[in-house]
Amino acid sequence: MTTQAVEHELVLAGRMARLGTETAFEVLSRAKALESQGRSIIHLEIGEPDFDTPKHIVEAAVDALRGGWTHYGPSAGLPELREAIAANVSRTRGVTVTPEEVVVVPGGKPIMFYAMLALVDEGDEVIYPNPGFPIYESMIRYAGGAAVPIPLREERDFAMDVDELARLITDRTRMIILNSPQNPTGGVLARRDIERAAAAIGERNIMVLADEMYNRLQFEGEPFSMMSVPGMQERTILLDGFSKTYAMTGWRIGYGVMRADLAAQMTRLMTNSNSCTASFTQRAALAALNGDQSAVGAMRAEFERRSRAFVDGLNRIKGFSARMPKGAFYVFANVTGTNWTSKKLADALLEEAGVAALSGTAFGIYGEGYLRFSVANSMENLMEALKRIDAWTRANL
Ligand SMILES: Cc1ncc(COP(=O)(O)O)c(C=O)c1O
Repeated sequence: MTTQAVEHELVLAGRMARLGTETAFEVLSRAKALESQGRSIIHLEIGEPDFDTPKHIVEAAVDALRGGWTHYGPSAGLPELREAIAANVSRTRGVTVTPEEVVVVPGGKPIMFYAMLALVDEGDEVIYPNPGFPIYESMIRYAGGAAVPIPLREERDFAMDVDELARLITDRTRMIILNSPQNPTGGVLARRDIERAAAAIGERNIMVLADEMYNRLQFEGEPFSMMSVPGMQERTILLDGFSKTYAMTGWRIGYGVMRADLAAQMTRLMTNSNSCTASFTQRAALAALNGDQSAVGAMRAEFERRSRAFVDGLNRIKGFSARMPKGAFYVFANVTGTNWTSKKLADALLEEAGVAALSGTAFGIYGEGYLRFSVANSMENLMEALKRIDAWTRANL
């Protein structure tokens, strides 16, 4: 790619220096570049289900397109979808949610962005899981907030230490981000931990951003939400969506559930940025929520099966060890036994073994010593990846 010569320097706003990124997309494009040179790469870097969107959802979208759902809609989402989401969240979280408390947006990510823009002022502290989804830290800092990491440790099965959380809360804490099941570790927050976190917050006016994007992909036990803790509903922003649950990553649709006065403010942010979420996509999401749910269970079972097989395989490879994740579709492997840094190892596996994974440091400083493998790939490819990694370690360690 050649870059055209420019006469005028690009002068960026200062805040752009605080914007982070999601490394998965960068590794994906490096892997694609290697493939275009004829190399064989197994893609375990990107976090999206390898399944097709269930047929009845696709059909609903096609019907919607033919039926003229091709125009602008209300910024907060179509009333029938907000209603269906409110009913679904009321039922699954055991709370009463009204449609005015629902904002439909293009993916789960905008809820993070809008929550920071709407609530975080310069210098406000936001506590976030580390390693964690990289966009949290990026958005906190972009909004001018102070990003306060809470480390997630392997010995606790990557569930946060609530006593540590309690110690991190200060008078400047404006928001706490929780994510369960968690990306990248597959950790899950137990009901007891969530209740204890609520107790640590006490009566403080702190907002909890509860990222429950993977709640339908929890392998054991019922997921529990901060929104369900008595007294916490008005201080919880629940983030959920369709990307992972229904294999709809490319459709771009997600939602937030929050008190109605905050929902109105997020709607203003929607009007200012996206105007609305695509109307036919919303009609498809309605079919996803109201239709046959069997595909969700089938995907969850398959992710669990693959995770187990991949963990077993990794544990037989020199320098690698991994715990069985409790949800989502990632294996977060400890690679300290290789004596390589995570980034160097991820680069070498991509370049020399043809396996694309992400360095744990792509998820924050506490990710050093780990690699994230997405098991959203066929069992056959996962087994081939294990073979390649094993061969590489035999030759290089
Ligand atoms: C924890 C978590 N939250 C939110 C998202 C964003 O989802 P979406 O693609 O719907 O924006 C992801 C995507 O990887 C995620 O891992």
